[in-house]
Amino acid sequence: KTIIITIDGPAGSGKSSVARRVAEELGFAYLDSGAIYRAVSFYLSQKCISSNDVAKIEVELEKLTIQIDDQQRIFVNGADVTGEIRSPKVDEIVSFYSSLPVVRRRLLSIQRELGDRQNLIAEGRDMGTVVFPNADLKIFLKANARTRAARRWKELAERGVEISYDDVYYQIIQRDELDSKRKLSPLLPAEDAIILDTSDLTLEEVVEAVKKLIKE
Ligand code: C5P
Repeated sequence: KTIIITIDGPAGSGKSSVARRVAEELGFAYLDSGAIYRAVSFYLSQKCISSNDVAKIEVELEKLTIQIDDQQRIFVNGADVTGEIRSPKVDEIVSFYSSLPVVRRRLLSIQRELGDRQNLIAEGRDMGTVVFPNADLKIFLKANARTRAARRWKELAERGVEISYDDVYYQIIQRDELDSKRKLSPLLPAEDAIILDTSDLTLEEVVEAVKKLIKE
């Protein structure tokens, strides 16, 4: 049996950086489920298929393939979309597509297959509640919205994306709202998740805290 550790939380809670680091140190595979939702949303929006057009989305999803390579590059129907999925534009639309049951259903099997094959740290919104309910350890990271927006803004600035802090803050609040209020798999800690507030912690400190939980 493979070991599965889930890390869930809202945008900017630190889950990606933490999950990537811990996976590397433990030699586990790493699943960034947000990247899959982003890739699908980007792909559909490029095809001018709105999130209201469920019938068209269903047709697209049937023939859709997603691949992720060792370097975390992500491909939709063979096309590399890694560079495009982290843009503010995708931040703005992703929650609309990911609230759709057709989308979530289609992505469920893709995510679970990864866990059957290898020890895994899976990171996202519903890893502990829906995708891997039997995970060996479930962690939920939270942090106040100002802190999360500041982290996200810094990350975008480092990549040369020009956007104001206020816009980032607004997007984070809006995404929180959409992700928490959707009917299917809302952003929520699993009942058996350990909740960690990262507002006043550095990345190093969160990584250490998570590693300690794993060793216990
Ligand atoms: O984690 P990240 O910010 O990249 O996630 C982008 C979006 O993908 C989230 O705001 C959410 O709408 C969606 N998502 C999801 N379920 C997951 C991971 C991400 O609905 N497990």
